[in-house]
Amino acid sequence: MKNRKLTRRDFLKLTGLGAGTVTFGGIISACSPYLQPAISATPIPTSTLVSALPASDDLEIIMRATIGQVNIFPDSPTDIWHYQAEIKQGDPASVQTLPNSYLGPIIHTQRGQNFRARLVNELSEETIVHWHGLHIPAEMDGHPRYAIAPNASYDYSFRVLNRAGTYWFHPHPHQRTGAQAYAGMAGLFIVHDEEEAAAQLPTGEFDLPLVIQDRIFDANRQLVYAGDSMNGVLGTTVLVNGQLNASLTLKPAQYRLRLLNGSNARIYKLAWSDNTPFTVIATDGGLLEKPVERNAITLAPGERVELWADFSDHTGREIHLLSQQFSAGGGMGMGSGYPQGTPFDILAIRFEGDVTRLFPRPSLLSSPNFYLPEDSVRTRRVEVAMQGMAGFLNGRTFVMDEVASDERVRLGDLEIWEFANLGSGMGMGGGGMGMGGGGMMGGMMSQPHPMHIHGVQFQVIERRLDTNQSSGYESLSDGFINDGWKDTVLVLPGETVRVLVKFEDFAGLFLYHCHNLEHEDGGMMRNYEVSG
Ligand code: C2O
Ligand code: CU
Ligand code: CU
Repeated sequence: MKNRKLTRRDFLKLTGLGAGTVTFGGIISACSPYLQPAISATPIPTSTLVSALPASDDLEIIMRATIGQVNIFPDSPTDIWHYQAEIKQGDPASVQTLPNSYLGPIIHTQRGQNFRARLVNELSEETIVHWHGLHIPAEMDGHPRYAIAPNASYDYSFRVLNRAGTYWFHPHPHQRTGAQAYAGMAGLFIVHDEEEAAAQLPTGEFDLPLVIQDRIFDANRQLVYAGDSMNGVLGTTVLVNGQLNASLTLKPAQYRLRLLNGSNARIYKLAWSDNTPFTVIATDGGLLEKPVERNAITLAPGERVELWADFSDHTGREIHLLSQQFSAGGGMGMGSGYPQGTPFDILAIRFEGDVTRLFPRPSLLSSPNFYLPEDSVRTRRVEVAMQGMAGFLNGRTFVMDEVASDERVRLGDLEIWEFANLGSGMGMGGGGMGMGGGGMMGGMMSQPHPMHIHGVQFQVIERRLDTNQSSGYESLSDGFINDGWKDTVLVLPGETVRVLVKFEDFAGLFLYHCHNLEHEDGGMMRNYEVSG
């Protein structure tokens, strides 16, 4: 079994599925001692969404959760935890290994394809993988109750039903999601389909993932996992695709940029240094109907956004991807990182060479088949609040197998979920709740919460600010992308966000939680149960 290993430069110019369209560096052979008897068959539910591809097109991998070292700094290696994948069956180009990066692998699949993965835990503590954004059976979703002990393995087997898009995976063990993800465990799960192909977006070397994460390193070049359960773990430096001071040399051409905020707690307000507006073509759940223009993009932990960028007149220029200053609750951090809202220079891009291919600006991207709010059968309200040092959902924290009566959903129902960020839950209403500009107490207690529902994609149908509007709110709301399908939505202090969501195909126990990973580990997570 062979994995493709990329050089750093190749990874930074990473391609899409376009298997074989790019030459990677050397090929490493990864002979795993863990090749074991056939992966147990899990029944795959039939769906009207896609027709199955022939079994010969299945993708099957072994994925080890293991420890390692990478040279993030040239002078001395950094200890990391990461995933290492090897292909058991399928196109060798469908799994890309990132050279000298804790991040990855990048898994490419086709809608309708059967995917199998054996997770092997080589860590000294329990773990489990969650496939963020994928619509898959409950037993495949990586609930912490399926966490496996050191040296144990877990077999995943599911059909890829999602639309083409940028999904991802990360650990989800009880109270250790934040620490394990921070140590380096995360990768992309990219889905391709025919609708995407018809949109004629940039492919091959013109299709680039950009995973944005913040970290703190100590003087020995080691990761420091430090923060508090109120603000989450915030870093002092931002990495792109696991690289420090990231820079790219691109061609003056059109690109598809796939951005994931893979940070534990940090929100970014993205902008180009030359103020060129972004052309947004996709969100969490794949392509929008048509491109949307934004001067800035607010990207909260767990969220993805895809851009179509025309750099064809950029020869000889250099632009930077920035995160602009904002205020949105939090602040006054007790951790050692920089506060939420601190500006960062994220990525430098230089342009060189000749245009070899031109991709037209897309006009119609996809037919997203949206639901109508008036067809929903109920509205469920989830009050989101910090109390003391922990986050609560309707006054409750996470209990492994607990499902309250108001957390039971009927299979096939279309519902409205209303996330209301009440801030402190200590009666600090009005202006005092503050968007970070408020008093110390208000600033600390009011937190932004990126709310995520497992197993589904939803539509954002309404946003409402219940407290006095402030410039703090607008500093982020300008950059919201409310179009398309999403699985994670940022709910700012004082805000109520309504999403429309259908619970189809799969019964069982799923999670909904705040994707600030320290909030999640601190208990800001609950089960919901779908039954037929
Ligand atoms: Cu990325 Cu439970 O989620
Ligand atoms: Cu998820
Ligand atoms: Cu939160």
